[in-house]
Amino acid sequence: MWSGTPLFPVSASTMAPRVDALYFFLIGIAGFFSLLIACLIVFYAVKYRRRAPDAIGSRIEGGMVLEITWTVIPLLITMVIFVWGASVFFAMSRPPDDTLNVYVVGKQWMWKFQHLNGQREINELHVPVGRAVKLIMTSEDVIHDVFIPGFRVKADVIPGRYTQLWFEPTKPGRYHLFCAEYCGTRHSGMIGEVVVMEPDEFQVWLSGGRAEGSLASAGAKLSADLACNTCHRPDTESRGPSLDGLFGRTVTLQDGTTAIVDEGYVREAIVNPAARIRAGYQPIMPTYQGVVTEEGLQQLVEYIKSLRAGDARQP
Ligand code: CUA
Repeated sequence: MWSGTPLFPVSASTMAPRVDALYFFLIGIAGFFSLLIACLIVFYAVKYRRRAPDAIGSRIEGGMVLEITWTVIPLLITMVIFVWGASVFFAMSRPPDDTLNVYVVGKQWMWKFQHLNGQREINELHVPVGRAVKLIMTSEDVIHDVFIPGFRVKADVIPGRYTQLWFEPTKPGRYHLFCAEYCGTRHSGMIGEVVVMEPDEFQVWLSGGRAEGSLASAGAKLSADLACNTCHRPDTESRGPSLDGLFGRTVTLQDGTTAIVDEGYVREAIVNPAARIRAGYQPIMPTYQGVVTEEGLQQLVEYIKSLRAGDARQP
């Protein structure tokens, strides 16, 4: 209904109608009360105007019913906003289990996208319609921010860690992607496009191009080059935790807390191994900060992920 309005973006994801409904509810509430208050100010200004030069106002006593009414009504309205807003927020921050994952690296001033089969692209992201897509994002330099107005999703992209964003496109087409965090002189030029395609077209696109093998296989090779398996072995001689079947598990740390082995955990374990040491192991692993590039980290994460199903494939 609003797509013809130049100031209102098209609605092209499953999240968009939910965000819009909340947005219009807030606008409606704010508009209604602004108008009500403005009208009451004018009405009472006229009604209680000074009618004679020496008129003196009468004393006003408080009214308990009135006080309770104008406390309870706003409380109910704000609770509706809170519960509704929280439900949209939780839906946005929890990606479904079965997502199509794409790695994103922001740098001054471009977006680099990396599909799991090894296909790469810059400032353009191809995704299929009707499939939940999860972006696993980091930055090589300063803080950037992915904003796709047509999908009503937005998240900061932060150096040194992974942040996530998910969406499910509902309409094929091309959608703007903006950097929404001021990141330097060419921030305004740090833009791109999300190309939403029919699933079969997407498969054709994905298998075309010159992908150099999957991220997981590149990660297996990198892991062999770095000799990760000299310490990370499945046997009892192991000085580091075995990587087999590790991804997705909940592990106990030295301080007794637990952590879920997700993309962010694995990335941190490589660049800052001392941060979260597994219970029963020594903090002897050197950091690979600066040794492994962001692309290399993506490959290692996907390699470790590929060992999930007890697949003891060694590089
Ligand atoms: Cu990147 Cu603004």
